[in-house]
Order: sequence, then C-alpha cells, then structure tokens
Amino acid sequence: MGGEFALDESSRNGNVMPNLSVRAEEMEGARILVTGGAGFIGSHLVDHLVARNEVTVIDDLSTGTLRNLGRARGRVHVKKVSVLETDTLATAMKGQQIVYHLAAKTSVPESVAKPEAYWRNNVEGTVRVLRAAADASVRRVVFVSSAAVYGDSPEMPKVESMRPDPKSPYAVTKMVGEFACEEIRGMTGMETVVVRLFNAYGPRQDPSAPYSGVMAKFCAAVAANRPLEIYGDGDQTRDFLFVADIAEGLELAGVKSVNGATLNLGSGEAITVNDVVRNLSEIVGRPIRAVREPERPGDIRHSRADVSKAKEKLGFTARTTVREGLKKTLEDARKRAAHAS
Ligand SMILES: NC(=O)c1ccc[n+]([C@@H]2O[C@H](COP(=O)([O-])OP(=O)(O)OC[C@H]3O[C@@H](n4cnc5c(N)ncnc54)[C@H](O)[C@@H]3O)[C@@H](O)[C@H]2O)c1
Repeated sequence: MGGEFALDESSRNGNVMPNLSVRAEEMEGARILVTGGAGFIGSHLVDHLVARNEVTVIDDLSTGTLRNLGRARGRVHVKKVSVLETDTLATAMKGQQIVYHLAAKTSVPESVAKPEAYWRNNVEGTVRVLRAAADASVRRVVFVSSAAVYGDSPEMPKVESMRPDPKSPYAVTKMVGEFACEEIRGMTGMETVVVRLFNAYGPRQDPSAPYSGVMAKFCAAVAANRPLEIYGDGDQTRDFLFVADIAEGLELAGVKSVNGATLNLGSGEAITVNDVVRNLSEIVGRPIRAVREPERPGDIRHSRADVSKAKEKLGFTARTTVREGLKKTLEDARKRAAHAS
C-alpha cells in the first residue's frame, strides 16, 4: 500500500505544489483546512496532522473551544468565523489542497426543536464550503457525515449501499450534505469523499449536553463519583470508535484513491451499554453505581457499521480497544474534574 499519492483522473491540476510529498498512508507537506477544527473530533484531527502539514482551522467556537487546540496552538492558523461567512471562507480557502468539513451543529434533539437553524448551519454551511473549495481549486473535500443517515431500520450491519432513511432534521442535513458533495463533484471535477462516522468517543468530548456520547457521560460521572444513568435495559448496542482512530481514518480518506466514495468509519463491533459499564468497573477496580432510567423515546436500539469498504479502500481498521479508549477517556474526565474543583 506504499507509494506516492496519485491524483485521481478527475482532479484538476491547478493546485498541486511541485514538491508536495504525500504518501498513501500519511500526508506530508500539504496545506489543509479543517472546518470545526476546535471541536471534539476536529481538534484531534488537527493534532494528528499538524506536525507534518500546514493546517488552518475555521471555527465559530459555538460548541468548540480554543482549549481543544491547546497542544496544536501556535502551529495552526485559527480563524474564528462561521463557514457561513463567504468572504472569509474564500480567503481561507486560497491555496488549500485538502479540506476536512466537520463544522456542524450536532445535537439530534436540538435539531428537532430548531430545524431551520440546522438547515442553515449544516446544509447552507456545507454548500458554501464546497463552493468556496471548488472556486479555490482545492483538490479534495472530505465531508464528515453521520451514521444517522441510516435511521433506525433493524438491518445490521449498516452498509453504505443501503438507502438513506434519516429520522431527524440533523440526519437530513447530513444526507443533503452528501448529495451536495456528489453534485459539486459532477459539476466541477473537484474530488469529494463522504465519511459516515459512527459513535465517536474519547478525550475532550463534552459530557454536558443531554444526548452527548454515553462514554463521555459515564466517564464524567465516574470521575465525579456520581452514579451512572442507564436508559432502558442497557442492552442497546453502539459501534464506538476512539477519536484517535477517527483521525487516522480521516487522514486516509484525504489521501487514498477514493474520489466519489461514501465510506463508513466505525469499529465494526457492537458493544452494549452494559458492556461499557462492566469495562469501566474493571478499569477502576470496583463495582460502579448505576441508576436505571426509562428507555428514551426515539433512541436507536442497535447500531453497527459494516467496515469492509473502509478496510478495502482505505486500509483502515480500528486499533484502539474499548478498554484502552475508555481508560484514556476516564483519565481526561478525571483531569477535567480536578481542574473544575
Ligand atoms: N461525535 C460523534 O459521535 C459524531 C458522529 C457522527 C458524525 N459526527 C460529525 O462530526 C463532526 C464533528 O462533531 P463533534 O462531535 O466533534 O462536535 P463538536 O460540536 O465538538 O464540533 C463541531 C465544531 O464545529 C463548529 N461549528 C459549528 N457550526 C459552525 C459554523 N457555522 N462555522 C464554523 N464552525 C462551526 C463548532 O464550534 C465545533 O467546534 C460534525 O460534523 C458531526 O456531525 C460526529
């Protein structure tokens, strides 16, 4: 799988640096723009790329924070603006080779309450990013979509060829974003890649939002010595992917020959919420208190990615076990709890 990175046939050649050296597994010396780069996942992607590339972040800091860029700050160019601001976007896009578009509002229940705000931020925002990228002759845009586009059909695992079945305004914005990628690729020849992320977890994930990731919530509760809240019987499953693995997968989606592809990024394994609690008990070496709450309406019962396409096309497989990932997430939650007190 080694060798130099080759442009896909459809690439335009206006923006290729002569001495750009990008290996098939790693980017090096590339100019990369990350929208939403001060957020949970975006900041890990920046950490991953910044040592070997020139990275610019666009983030309106609506949910992200500059603290997330603590380790990378000073080495990245940060623009505190919304992707809806076309002029700044156009300036930031100049000379970029690869764009990762992660900026989005991400709460499913909030999207139900404020569908128009979600449409504007996520759909309009994505269209503007794609348009600005094409105008600046960016080589490739990697759009971070979500497993939410699959909805809650019982078929498992979720394969990319399944018909999208979005069940919330948030999921609809991601689905439309995917179509917008397809459209601009056809119209302009700019490369686009869609990555459907399953459940992300890891350090820096905000545990405070009502529907934020269960791993972040559980680790924050353990760090604060509070009981965990389990909704329903705890046998619901999720496909969890540790955030450092996501950063690796996204890097691959930026360099491999996958123009036009839609790819699941997950672990391929279904873990129950009860398994998560068991793992946490073993990590802390004692039983963990949990309270049972009624099942939440609208919660998806099971979710698992078919990861064969990402494996075949990107050479990606999740490396971090749930045990290792939870340990790191708990360490981070403990540091935050100590800092807050
Ligand atoms: N966390 C998950 O499990 C998960 C799963 C599937 C998909 N995703 C997608 O991954 C991406 C990153 O999610 P995250 O979990 O890191 O959430 P996050 O809220 O931490 O990150 C989103 C970032 O985008 C920024 N942002 C929002 N609107 C913006 C705008 N108009 N202009 C500029 N910046 C803006 C926010 O300030 C934040 O820094 C999102 O697109 C999300 O939909 C996340």
